[in-house]
This record gives sequence, structure tokens and C-alpha cells, in this order.
Amino acid sequence: MALLLPGGIATPGLVWKQRRRASICKASAAPSPDPAWRTNVVSERAARSGVEISRSIEECEAAVVSGNPPEAPPVPAKPKAPQGTPLVTPLRLSSRPRRNRKSAALRAAFQETTLTPANFILPLFIHEGEQDSPIGAMPGCFRLGWKHGLVDEVYKARDVGVNSVVLFPKIPDALKSATGDEAYNPNGLVPRAIRILKDKYPDLVIYTDVALDPYSSDGHDGIVREDGVIMNDETVHQLCKQAVAQVSCYQAEAGADVVSPSDMMDGRVGAIRTALDEAGYHDVSIMAYTAKYASAFYGPFREALDSNPRFGDKKTYQMNPGNYREALLEVHADESEGADILMVKPAMPYLDVIRLLRDTSALPISAYQVSGEYSMIKAAASQGMLDEKKAVLESLLCIKRAGADVILTYAALQAARWLCGEK
Ligand code: PBG
Repeated sequence: MALLLPGGIATPGLVWKQRRRASICKASAAPSPDPAWRTNVVSERAARSGVEISRSIEECEAAVVSGNPPEAPPVPAKPKAPQGTPLVTPLRLSSRPRRNRKSAALRAAFQETTLTPANFILPLFIHEGEQDSPIGAMPGCFRLGWKHGLVDEVYKARDVGVNSVVLFPKIPDALKSATGDEAYNPNGLVPRAIRILKDKYPDLVIYTDVALDPYSSDGHDGIVREDGVIMNDETVHQLCKQAVAQVSCYQAEAGADVVSPSDMMDGRVGAIRTALDEAGYHDVSIMAYTAKYASAFYGPFREALDSNPRFGDKKTYQMNPGNYREALLEVHADESEGADILMVKPAMPYLDVIRLLRDTSALPISAYQVSGEYSMIKAAASQGMLDEKKAVLESLLCIKRAGADVILTYAALQAARWLCGEK
């Protein structure tokens, strides 16, 4: 159920709030201090239960003082331990942390971290096709047709409070090249998709990916020299053109609200900031892939976009999974170059790095629960090895606990539905 404003704009925040309010209201009717109100309630309750109130408060108190307390339910018997349970003297503990976990209400009261759909960014794959085509390695994910499937999926996400998406295009081979020039075609797939989405949902937050790999005939994030070297500064030049194309595609305002360079070239955040500012897009944000590791967990994503590197790996630009301190260098570079949000990727195997960024920087931190993390849970759940709902929500909660403010996750729509109380 979506709330529609005139003009057909869904208001996910409202839907979310109303759903929450409905469940919160049930739990918390605070007593009013007004004595007249109290008397009414007492007599109403008495009328409902058929009990006649005949004695005054003073008479009731006197009865108790004189040793005639009214009847209350009997004290229940002590629950029995199973036969054979050893008889022990209670341990003399100065603290028993289990006391604060003993009921659902106490556990809810003391929960330090909570998830809401507003914390999620939903990555969406788009293609030129008119049909949505399933992605084998990512059950439940599709390459969405940019005209219809994409618009429908975003509608569903907003309906449960997910109002942020990031777009990943599957580019036809014939448009790929060594220098990835299709990346800044103003009528390319991503600019067209942004125009459709901004027309339908003006308040949707659109993130775009800035990197050459979907457009590169080599499947690398940058331009590849004859000897296999990924060229840094020349790639940054292309990335600036790509970022400007992604924001200038919507005339009324900026197209993309946030550009996110995922390429790991040196100096790209500062160069993109300058390019955006020079083009007049001072309000467009940059979410930097700050600590992006050369990870095996990107496998399913590369199948989805058919963007596997044609040779070699991405280790000369993405970080070594064994490194922690090195993330600090990237933090300082991205901060000083003007990043607005810092990202760690992947998420679950790198919770320590998320915590490092959280403690080092005052900027918002995002974490990317990548394709392989998603597919692992899906695969285990489909074999009956894991409870999918519990595993997904736990993984997201833990990523947030580690220090992420927002999480990019393919499970965003499903998780938001669960958080809204759907089964
Ligand atoms: C490419 C890019 C990748 C992902 C996001 N942007 C793949 C890669 O670096 O090879 C991976 C996301 C995922 O696995 O879900 N610039």
C-alpha cells in the first residue's frame, strides 16, 4: 500500500511512519494525571467486568492495614528443573549480565543499534532490454528494463521506505571500448534511466557508479596500457567526464544526487569534485569507495554485468585484503579531496575496517554488502541451511553496529519489507 500525493508521488517516509506508529501505539497508552479521567476509567473498567464498587479508598486501605488483604491470584509454583539437575549453591556474582536480557521488552529497551529502511541503498542492475532478466548467481535479482522494470522496482522500494538507489548498467559489447567512452554518452543507458526516475520520483535519491568497467572492453575500471598497466591519470580524466554526464542529464536540476567513484584510482575524488564544481554542480555529493578491497566476493556482480576483467585481476588498484592501516591513507586522501561519504567494501568480512573509518572520520560511513555476501546467504537459505530472514537482518544489523550509517545491499527491498512487519 503506497500513500499517493497528488501527481502520483509515493511518500515512503509517511508509509513507514504510519506503520510504525500503528504498532507503537498498541504498546504505549500512558495514564493521564487528571484524576477525573482516572475515576472514569476505573468505573468503566468495573462496569465492563461486572464488579460493583461499593467501598471507599479509606475502607479498602483499612481492610489491608487490619490484616484482611483482598484476594489476588495465587503465587505460582516455582518452575521445576529437569530430573538430575545438580543442586548447587548460587554463584556469588557481582554482576549477572543476563538480567538485562531476561525479557523481550528489556532486550528491546536496551538494544543499542537498530535498522530502518532509511539506512538502505538498493543497488539496481539495468539493461537495454524491455524484459527483466534474472541473474543466475544472484537469486531474486534481475537486470531490469530501464523503462519499465526499473520504475516498478523503485516504486516497490519506496513503498517500504527505501528511497535511495544506485544504478549499475549492463552495456552491450558493441559499445565497449578500450577507453570506455560510452561512460560519458549523455544519452547512454544511465543518463536515460536517471531522467525516467527523476520524472517519476523527484525526491528519489539516485547514486551512480563512477568507473569504466561496464564500458571497458578489457573489463577493468581504468584504461589498460599495452603492457597491462592500468593508467591512473588518463582514467581520472575519463571519470570526470563520466561523473559530469551523470549529473548534467536532467535539466531541471542535477541528475544523480550522489556520484560514487568505485574505481580506486588515485586523486579521482578531488578531480571529480573540481569537475562538478566547474560545471556548476556544487550540490552534488561524492560517496567515495574509500577502502575497496580486491575481493573474491564481487564474482556474482561481474556475472550480472558481464564485466569480468579480460585478463589479470584488480590488485594494482583495489586494496590488499590483508591491509588495515592502509585504509587510513585512503581515508585521509578522500577526506582532503572533498568526499562527503566514505565507503568500505565488502562489508561483513571487513567489519574491523568499518569500525576504523567510523572512529577516524566524522563523515558518514557507508558499507557495501556485496554480491557474494548476498549470494552466500541466498544459497545457504535455498538449501535449508540458514533462516534467510534472520541471517539477512542479523548481517545488516552487525554491519551497522560496526559503524556504518548506510548499507548498500541487494536485500534492501526484502529487508525493508520484513522491518515493516511483512512475513
Ligand atoms: C566496479 C564495481 C564492482 C562492484 C561495484 N562496482 C566490481 C568490481 O570492482 O570488480 C561490486 C559490487 C558487488 O559485488 O556487489 N567498479
